[in-house]
Amino acid sequence: MKKRVAILISGSGSNMEALVRAMARPDYPAEPVLVLSNRPHAGGLARAEALGVPTAVVDHRPFGQDRAAFEAALNEALEAARPDILCLAGFMRILTGGFISKWRGRMLNIHPSLLPRYRGLDTHARAIAAGDRQAGCSVHEVTAELDGGPVLGQARLDIRPDDTPETLAARVLKLEHRLYPLVLERFARGRRERIDLAVEG
Ligand code: GRF
Repeated sequence: MKKRVAILISGSGSNMEALVRAMARPDYPAEPVLVLSNRPHAGGLARAEALGVPTAVVDHRPFGQDRAAFEAALNEALEAARPDILCLAGFMRILTGGFISKWRGRMLNIHPSLLPRYRGLDTHARAIAAGDRQAGCSVHEVTAELDGGPVLGQARLDIRPDDTPETLAARVLKLEHRLYPLVLERFARGRRERIDLAVEG
């Protein structure tokens, strides 16, 4: 039986698309059952529809500061799709401990840095400013600590002398599209050993 996967997005959904395309392989151990966005106009929603994946929107704005009520609505939409695994893919809301403990062990996130370096935002600018030689991305299990759960896979590349945060982000994003489907595939088979990919240049 394939694992049922819900993907949570807020933006353009390029990682979502990479996951959905990988899951189309007959031997892939998971299938997409829902793409959910907290932003009604996220570009990823149209992409998901074009790929034939059911979509849902739970807009966070009407809930204001009431994160518990937002997450209750999120859970309701998710549970209707009966996912086994949640993949956060550019989902730009901080989740509370209640939501995370409910899905603990079943929720992955992709983050554009070599964790534990650069949790949070502006990761590429911070890596360049620090003079790092390498940058990359990490897929990790989601725990209560922001961008802090166990790392299941990383992909890395060399930072070029002329890289800007934008050029670096574009190259790392391509790596994200390779790494996330590989990690999800293993995770869906119940395997937790870490994947490391290194790319020249
Ligand atoms: C990616 O860089 C991801 O690592 C970060 O947000 C971005 C989402 O891009 N969390 P997309 O929506 O998948 O194109």
